[in-house]
Amino acid sequence: MDAKPAVLNAAIRDVRCGSGVKIVAPANVYECELGDQCFVGPFVEIQKGVTVGARTRIQSHSFICELVAIGEDCFIGHGVMFINDVFAVGCPARGRQELWRSTNIGDRVSIGSNATIMPVRICDDVVIGAGAVVTRDISESGFYVGNPARLLRPMHSEDPPNHGNQ
Ligand SMILES: CC(C)(COP(=O)(O)OP(=O)(O)OC[C@H]1O[C@@H](n2cnc3c(N)ncnc32)[C@H](O)[C@@H]1OP(=O)(O)O)[C@@H](O)C(=O)NCCC(=O)NCCS
Repeated sequence: MDAKPAVLNAAIRDVRCGSGVKIVAPANVYECELGDQCFVGPFVEIQKGVTVGARTRIQSHSFICELVAIGEDCFIGHGVMFINDVFAVGCPARGRQELWRSTNIGDRVSIGSNATIMPVRICDDVVIGAGAVVTRDISESGFYVGNPARLLRPMHSEDPPNHGNQ
């Protein structure tokens, strides 16, 4: 047991960026697209093919896997986990990408810390509570909490909109 491990370095590479994008290193962010003024905190991984809309903030320790698209003016809290492989065949897909499923997050969606987002579609103007597990599509604007995430209350016009600048 004295062999040397292969060590691969995290890197920020081949990222298509709009203007004013900030990424805090160390981060593993590659072959993805970040719109104008996006912010990416430290220890974030954003994988190949992900798109992130303008002014969206991704806080530290979040994981955004392939097949995820995030809209504009979103807030992705700390340690938010996205999932594309649901172990549909009783084990990890192990590279069989035809088994992966996609996630689409609308505009002005705020996701609380430590939430888990299964492959779903979430409409515009949604808040996901801290620690929620979103297992089903969300097509009505509002606040969703719990595991599985359920509607807590609808979004009211007096709720301040998220402009991605928290
Ligand atoms: C979802 C959220 C926005 C709701 O806030 P709110 O409207 O002020 O809700 P309240 O605190 O009045 O709680 C209302 C009910 O929802 C429950 N609740 C609130 N947040 C919850 C959560 N994350 N998970 C489960 N239940 C939650 C409360 O226990 C309460 O239940 P009760 O009526 O049975 O007592 C907020 O609690 C939250 O989770 N925000 C995420 C913050 C975050 O992660 N920020 C990241 C940057 S620091």
